[in-house]
Amino acid sequence: MNSDEIFALGENYIAPTYNRFPLALVKGDGVKLWDAEGNEYLDGLAGIAVCNLGHCHPRVSAAISEQANRLLHVSNLYHIEPQARLAELLCKLSFAEKVFFCNSGAEANEAAIKLARRYGHTVLGKESTRIITMQRSFHGRTMATLTATGQQKVKTGYQPLLEGFDYVPFDDVNAVAEAITDKTCAVMVEPVQGEGGVILPTPGYFEGLRKLCSERKVLLILDEVQTGIGRTGKLFAYQHSAIIPDILTSAKALGNGFPIGAMLAVDRIMCHCGPGSHATTFGGNPLAATAALAVLETMRDEKIIDQVAEKGAFLEAGLKDLQVKFPDLVGPIRGLGLMIGIDLKTPVAEVVKACLKRRLLVGSAGDNTLRITPPLIIEKAEIETLLQILSEVLTDVRKS
Ligand SMILES: Cc1ncc(COP(=O)(O)O)c(C=O)c1O
Repeated sequence: MNSDEIFALGENYIAPTYNRFPLALVKGDGVKLWDAEGNEYLDGLAGIAVCNLGHCHPRVSAAISEQANRLLHVSNLYHIEPQARLAELLCKLSFAEKVFFCNSGAEANEAAIKLARRYGHTVLGKESTRIITMQRSFHGRTMATLTATGQQKVKTGYQPLLEGFDYVPFDDVNAVAEAITDKTCAVMVEPVQGEGGVILPTPGYFEGLRKLCSERKVLLILDEVQTGIGRTGKLFAYQHSAIIPDILTSAKALGNGFPIGAMLAVDRIMCHCGPGSHATTFGGNPLAATAALAVLETMRDEKIIDQVAEKGAFLEAGLKDLQVKFPDLVGPIRGLGLMIGIDLKTPVAEVVKACLKRRLLVGSAGDNTLRITPPLIIEKAEIETLLQILSEVLTDVRKS
């Protein structure tokens, strides 16, 4: 099918929930993508921080196809070797002692919310079920996670929302301290607010939160759905600091494009979700678990994450040059590793569209922030191409 045929078919039959760009990608390899007509694109977005190892990484694709010919699914009524091995590896690479698998970021957060409430009920007292989340946060689109999300736009039309969430400004430990009551069971926060506009907290914020949560006996839940799996230069962003969370959620890049989510916790907390307390048909099935295992083993064996800080710094330096060249268009730049946001003084949607015309995929976040989250395997030469295209686009915007 050609692109026009794909657009028309989708418009006829797919629910109109997405505002799609007129682009149908049919093939990918590393940081390159191709549309139905064979035009090549440079991927500066990685499917929104998902394809961290690039598209169709040979080791991941081989593992998926081998497993696809062996066994796809059996359900969690039975033991699953790749799931157990994946859980072991996730625990060895993090603070965690047990893992619950699901299929997406929202489901991982849903599981974390449920676990925190059970912990509250059984350990803190029946009434202690409230969860503090941050303004501008994003935790997903299920009813619980959109309620947890600190952005009005995802809630519109979905009232009544769930009971039990309190919102405070991000990067403000005192605000959390004031909001904690004897009804609170957890604080849930992203290490870097992704959808909110790539917002980083000031150094010491997470140490402060950790101390506060420990003192007040409430759980610290880190939503690492977007920041995890090497995106910020560590496997999980909390590893930039000395703290450990009580619960951590992961998804997006965990399967490099194969849907899988995970909730990680220490035994002391995970013991509160005993048999029958939570479940999902597909979570951690043989195929998904095999894909994620191949992702983590490849990251480890090829030392992918070791290069992220340097590549991120190179990209940020190039963006700062653009900021100097285009002070009328480019505002503050924020980033950690290869998760970068650039506040624009011109509508970000127009810049994203213009980049697409020049065959570069980038995204937007927050109010007017350009988001760049390329595959972590991007080379310096490709970063230079990305910067060159962005420079051409900004030149055009200035002329128009
Ligand atoms: C921090 C964070 N949490 C949760 C989610 C929801 O993940 P999913 O879309 O896989 O449900 C996202 C998605 O963008 C996210 O960025």
